[in-house]
Amino acid sequence: MASNWTPESWKNCEARHLPVYQDAEELGRVEQTLGKFPPLVFAGEARALKADLAKVAAGEGFLLQGGDCAESFAEFHPNAIRDTFRVLLQMAVVLTFASKQPVVKVGRIAGQFAKPRSAPTEKQGDLELPSYFGDIINGSDFTPESRRNDPQRMLQAYGQSASTLNLLRAFASGGYANLRQVHKWTLEHLDHNPWGERFSGLADKIGEALDFMAACGVDPQSVPQLQGTNFYTSHEALLLPYEQALTRQDSLTGDWYDCSAHMLWIGDRTRFDNSAHVEFLRGVGNPIGVKCGPSLDPELLIRLLDQLNPAREAGRITLIARFGHDKVEAHLPKLIRAVQAEGHPVVWSSDPMHGNVIKADSGYKTRPFERILKEVRDFFAVHRAEGTHAGGIHIEMTGKNVTECTGGLIDITDAALADRYHTHCDPRLNGAQSIELAFLLAEELNAEAQERSKG
Ligand code: TRP
Ligand code: MN
Repeated sequence: MASNWTPESWKNCEARHLPVYQDAEELGRVEQTLGKFPPLVFAGEARALKADLAKVAAGEGFLLQGGDCAESFAEFHPNAIRDTFRVLLQMAVVLTFASKQPVVKVGRIAGQFAKPRSAPTEKQGDLELPSYFGDIINGSDFTPESRRNDPQRMLQAYGQSASTLNLLRAFASGGYANLRQVHKWTLEHLDHNPWGERFSGLADKIGEALDFMAACGVDPQSVPQLQGTNFYTSHEALLLPYEQALTRQDSLTGDWYDCSAHMLWIGDRTRFDNSAHVEFLRGVGNPIGVKCGPSLDPELLIRLLDQLNPAREAGRITLIARFGHDKVEAHLPKLIRAVQAEGHPVVWSSDPMHGNVIKADSGYKTRPFERILKEVRDFFAVHRAEGTHAGGIHIEMTGKNVTECTGGLIDITDAALADRYHTHCDPRLNGAQSIELAFLLAEELNAEAQERSKG
């Protein structure tokens, strides 16, 4: 167990990006209520994810992490959960086939509600109000009532997370994640799109592999592993009062776990020396992600790793690189070398979303598909050159047919962004763009798999 740590020792450190609540007593009451609610995940599940990630760190798996930039109360709907889950699974099948390795599936879901903002307040005309920090904190409408930081919202976020997670668990083990079925959706999707042709070769190979296995007696009817999957949840551990209230001591091991999700990550804006967020996550046993942006220098990264993972436990840390399409080559190698030199076992994952936001001529915030793809490809190329494992991707996506990122084979134009621009926060890849990304990534992973089988 971490030394000199308690669930509230973060309060002695520097907390950035936390909302100020006007009514401390109201906050305290909500924290007490939350503290009595059941944990959303069980510590044993967090350990299982850690074991899966340890394999990825060892070069024997791939991490697929994705979901909304920010979940919202207004968009809460079973179909949205279902569609995001389905697209993640479709991606996972393609990636598993191409990499010939298990794919660890982690949603940015069932708790991804809080957003760090560059300014604590927003001014429109003469009126200055708190910025919108995500639905777990306040509302996006620019009125004093809506922008009030309201602790009660944590209870609603907990409720939404609990029912989202319940549906995900049902899908993952109740038959919806059947491997045959998931692949059939992909075939139908490719059939319905003129550009589907481009990937039909790979899709057919997957189908043949399934047919071959079935002929050998291995199919979802006979093998339970093909009927379902493990699906984990994650979010940025930003709102520490909420995270603390859901932090529990595991009755089996006595260790502390943040039971709001299986995996938590620290944002690029909260990973500094003496950060409250680092202090909090230091003491919980969950797998932890650390976002790595262009301003992170190797010495700080090593200090963070020493604090967060002094025992150098594999699977504990995932480093999520988010540099921008033109910055990977300049920033990633020195971080990789520092981590290698210190012998810290980590999963390297690429977030090709957050360094690639631009403002389109139409005024919308968008991310061009080509830049997203370029960042991931550069990430793979750097790892190939360094002899390390490109272990995962972290994307903002939705199963819905939104128009938020430009490009891709469906070719969303700048002018088309207005059609279905629904995000509450950053622009997400839609279902088709996500599946396309998986097929394009498959080419990279396949090359790696071939080299492995040669070596
Ligand atoms: N259980 C295996 C896995 O999760 C195979 C599997 C079943 C699967 N359904 C799936 C893989 C859906 C990807 C997507 O890897
Ligand atoms: Mn985002």
